[in-house]
Amino acid sequence: MYDEVHRPRFHFSARQNWHNDPNGLIYHSGRWHLFFQHNPEATVWGNMTWGHAVSDDLVHWVQMEHALYPDEHGTMFSGSAVVDRFDTSGLGEDTLLAFYTAAGSHVEPPKPYTQCLAYSIDSGDTWLKFDENPIVSWIDAHNRDPKVVWHAPTRCWIMALYLTDDRFCLLRSTDAKQWERIQNITLEHDSECPDFFPLLDEAGIERWVFWGGSGTYLIGDFDGALFSPRSEVQTCEHGSNGYAAQTWSNAPSGRCIQISWMSGGRYPEMPFNQQMSFPVELSLRGNNGIWTLCRWPVKEIESITEPLDVPVSVGFDGSKPWPMPVSGDLFDIAFDISADDGGEVVLKIRGIPLTFDFERRVVNFRDSEVPMIGKDHLSVRLLIDRTSVELFLDGGRVSASFCYLPDAYVAPLVFNVRSGTANLDRVRVERVDDIWGSVR
Ligand code: FRU
Repeated sequence: MYDEVHRPRFHFSARQNWHNDPNGLIYHSGRWHLFFQHNPEATVWGNMTWGHAVSDDLVHWVQMEHALYPDEHGTMFSGSAVVDRFDTSGLGEDTLLAFYTAAGSHVEPPKPYTQCLAYSIDSGDTWLKFDENPIVSWIDAHNRDPKVVWHAPTRCWIMALYLTDDRFCLLRSTDAKQWERIQNITLEHDSECPDFFPLLDEAGIERWVFWGGSGTYLIGDFDGALFSPRSEVQTCEHGSNGYAAQTWSNAPSGRCIQISWMSGGRYPEMPFNQQMSFPVELSLRGNNGIWTLCRWPVKEIESITEPLDVPVSVGFDGSKPWPMPVSGDLFDIAFDISADDGGEVVLKIRGIPLTFDFERRVVNFRDSEVPMIGKDHLSVRLLIDRTSVELFLDGGRVSASFCYLPDAYVAPLVFNVRSGTANLDRVRVERVDDIWGSVR
């Protein structure tokens, strides 16, 4: 177990069987909880149950007993969790509350999707279902994926909920049990798994981010009653495999940490199916109407990386490929790359090409185009695992998550120039450790 050929080595995957969205992300008593959409019975989607894993460093995970099983209201779809610090619910001070969708039933008598509550009085180890479920009755279509956040100035809970098409809504509650709908929100071309959270911008002003399942977002102001978007819809996730991201609630030191499902990867003949992204820290660059949400791997990755000896600068003129003098298959690498306007540089990652096309100003990987920003120097960071590549440009202003299966390869990282000349500077290559050693 955890030793399989396509097992991600420093990304979370379920011990066995299918998983999709991260759910109920909460930090409490020194532990990061990661619940997840899970099929306990097969490597394909179905029988939705909340799986559960915990970590004390966001890097090493231990899978626990499943947390929520299907019941008379339906299977357990996505949702979130909070700490009820002030006992607003009457379920006890410091009780953990989980909000999830019960996915109803098609069989007689048919039941719609509703939003339900579960709670834990032992810091997330075990969960009890609230006996007056559902707490939010059916609103529209397959309404789902409640994400709840505390709005301190008004002492209210706010729930972001997906309705249908590209429509979402916000609901409000003082006791986490009775909810009133306060606003409808449209996030064009996005759907499912909303997130709604505050971040300070570079002027130190609190802004609220409304986020959709595909990784598009609006930035605006929120007074506890009305979210007023102050940006166009922007895209944070430019890859083909990042989906249903969620941020941890109650994270220490005001950190905003997010993890996503790396949806759509293939893991042939494996006892598990799918993987999560590496956790990233979010920040808001810019101010006064022009903001960019940045994603950057959490600093805790440093506990599992070790620098390798590689040249800090390299120049290419296209005459021959340059295999980096490294071996292995797990890397955290960073470099600045520059090329003439027509330059096209290919980095073969374990046989699979990632192309920096300076003419079209895009980075290509597996049929996805990621926009290059900045003028001359492009700063690049890549997290490379057995079956995933996460790309971060310009300190995380642009990011993209990809799954892949390696081709036959001799050298794991090979640079080549298809046209023009190019330079790499500030090259840093770190070997990454396997995180599963202790649980294998
Ligand atoms: C997103 C999603 C959610 C739903 C869950 C079911 O991937 O479709 O909208 O709650 O997965 O597994």
